[in-house]
Amino acid sequence: MSRKLFIAGNWKMNHTNAVAKEVLADLKAQVAGVTTVDIAICPTFTTLPTALEVLEGSNIAVGAQNVHFAANGAYTGEISAEMLNELNVPFVIIGHSERRQYFAETDETVNQRTKAALAAGIKPIVCVGETLEERQAGDTIKVVETQIKGAFEGISEAELANITIAYEPVWAIGTGETATPQQAQDVHAEIRKLVAALYTQAAADAIIIQYGGSVKPGNVVELMGQEDIDGALVGGASLKADDFAALVNNVA
Ligand code: PGA
Repeated sequence: MSRKLFIAGNWKMNHTNAVAKEVLADLKAQVAGVTTVDIAICPTFTTLPTALEVLEGSNIAVGAQNVHFAANGAYTGEISAEMLNELNVPFVIIGHSERRQYFAETDETVNQRTKAALAAGIKPIVCVGETLEERQAGDTIKVVETQIKGAFEGISEAELANITIAYEPVWAIGTGETATPQQAQDVHAEIRKLVAALYTQAAADAIIIQYGGSVKPGNVVELMGQEDIDGALVGGASLKADDFAALVNNVA
């Protein structure tokens, strides 16, 4: 089963509109010929309109970094799926470990946000991953399974077809510490097995599972060479056009 690589950049809380415009115009030119990799950039909420405008008609899609589960209401600081939909944002990252760690996201809110995105026709990139303590305690697979079961509660196989999973070991995010390709592959294979058990083998074969955590131009080839690694969610190395373009072009 061949799955098309999907590489997404997560800008986190970086880049003003002025900077985003420059970086994206540069990136667009540098990956213009790429057809073998699906590419996306997830900028801040305030730069989404700029990103959508600069990247219109290009081979780079745009995603948001979060979405609230309610349609509207008294949720200060949050953004609804309808609001993202109004801008025609095709993707959204849900349950990033920074959201879980600093903003009290739980498997339940990840599930609710995923459902809200799906209902609005926005494709979720659902993040899972263990902390260093959990890995050292030998709990990696248990933790990731609990996160996935929680996130996908009540989600049908048809809906699953619109979901990407991002496996991001928390200890490898922004630390320069990458999981070895084998460590990542082992978890990805377990995730795919779990999807087969929860849904069907066909669903497991089709689902894209990205790896995230210090992915760089220099390690992307080996990581993407693993059987069950189908893409990357990239933080730091997505901020500069040259880095992200090199990363994509190295596996295109
Ligand atoms: P990093 O971040 O590439 O800077 O480690 C990855 C992520 O948090 O998605």
